[in-house]
Amino acid sequence: MAIKYVAEPFRIKSVEPIKILTREEREQKIEEAKYNLFGLRGEDVYIDLLTDSGTGAMSVEQWAGVMRGDEAYAGASSFFKLRNAGIDIFGYEYIQPVHQGRAAEKVLFPTFLSDGKYAISNMFFDTTRAHVELAGARAIDCVVEEAKDPSIRCPFKGNMDVEKMKRIINEYGPENIGLVVMTITNNSAGGQPVSMQNMREVFEVCKKYNIPLDIDAARYAENAYFIKQREEECKNMSIKEIIAKMFSYGDMFTMSAKKDTIVNMGGLIGVKDGNSPLILKIKANCISYEGFYTYGGLAGRDLEALAIGLYEGIDESYLAYRIGQSEYIAARLDEAGIQYQAPVGGHGVFVDAAALFPHIPYNEYPGQVLAIELYKEAGIRTCDIGSYMLGNDPDTQEQLKADFEFTRLAIPRRVYTQAHLDVVVDALIAIKDRAHEIKRGYKITWEPPILRHFQASLEPIVEVGAENTEKDIELVSI
Ligand SMILES: Cc1ncc(COP(=O)(O)O)c(C=O)c1O
Repeated sequence: MAIKYVAEPFRIKSVEPIKILTREEREQKIEEAKYNLFGLRGEDVYIDLLTDSGTGAMSVEQWAGVMRGDEAYAGASSFFKLRNAGIDIFGYEYIQPVHQGRAAEKVLFPTFLSDGKYAISNMFFDTTRAHVELAGARAIDCVVEEAKDPSIRCPFKGNMDVEKMKRIINEYGPENIGLVVMTITNNSAGGQPVSMQNMREVFEVCKKYNIPLDIDAARYAENAYFIKQREEECKNMSIKEIIAKMFSYGDMFTMSAKKDTIVNMGGLIGVKDGNSPLILKIKANCISYEGFYTYGGLAGRDLEALAIGLYEGIDESYLAYRIGQSEYIAARLDEAGIQYQAPVGGHGVFVDAAALFPHIPYNEYPGQVLAIELYKEAGIRTCDIGSYMLGNDPDTQEQLKADFEFTRLAIPRRVYTQAHLDVVVDALIAIKDRAHEIKRGYKITWEPPILRHFQASLEPIVEVGAENTEKDIELVSI
């Protein structure tokens, strides 16, 4: 194998036992969960790659910080520590804690978006899209075309298609574009990075048309690491310098701190201009939804751990190990001939389920099929990032067809070892070998109106002779 696993830049001080159920038990559990991986209990999962969000392992320093956390309702010292870290790293004058990323979206988006408005992004993550729609607006994805072909290897597949973005702005009218959201890294496209050049170009377009630019910064540190590796103009800069430059190409940011900041709960909003009238609106919404603006839905101990995590998450040796884990899995998949969004992204490996099950159509959810098979095979929990996650058109209620059908192996930070990753790849190889035996996918038997994949119930579609419901027939004919 061409690639060497990057050894952990830490040692393990505390362990958490995990158990492995038998295959029969796993088949029963997934049926009881109505074939929704979110319905499983954590204790019934052996290797949990459902998400990298809030699932990282905190360091000794962060746990020590938890004890130091100042629980004052207003003006806690932990808040000022967090605020100073945010100002130092991002160069933004206003830093607002919130309890997680979607809370940042809920607080910020209605100040820019309402009925009849549009928001453009390189790609919206699911909750981000939901908050655009909840504010009454419509979300438009504008990622570069090469992102849509998992086999095309190019360095910045997360980029915004700037020409397309300009066309959309002119078509809908700049006054109707309430917000542009740059998602770094681009989660839904496979954790793919956005280049510095692209961030700069998008910012320039926003300035020209007077459209505010929000950076969805959940994985900003991983994005900076990729920029350092892949972009000439930044190769001699430190990660911190790259981050400062990246954030200079935005007006504000919303951040789920449960990712690159390595805390189990937390989020941030940042505003570049400390005198912006926006800040009063943010404070007002925050007080209504999250709590007083110096704690934003978090305990003092969370603020403290977050302030420390901000620095740990941008450490270059940590990032080399972190990205190295995805690269290790990817190298083994290359050997096994299993396709994924290539080159591999930051926070996980997005396996191309459509390539593994070419005979299963999008409306039988190949990404979900593979996720269920991985659980049955080895107790591994992952999730679909494809048509199942995308859901229905909010206007017509028709099933949307995603640009790709991925099963996401999201890698929690500082949690699993090389041997765990090998278990995952071995399970994928075993499934690949019997993929042709899996003839059909799943149908949805119940779904909520929004963010359905978290709660929906599914059922396997039975081969020939099965009594298909009206809904199946409808789906097949789309
Ligand atoms: C790019 C991106 N934005 C926003 C969010 C929402 O963050 P949270 O889960 O903390 O609400 C996520 C979560 O995965 C994400 O990946």
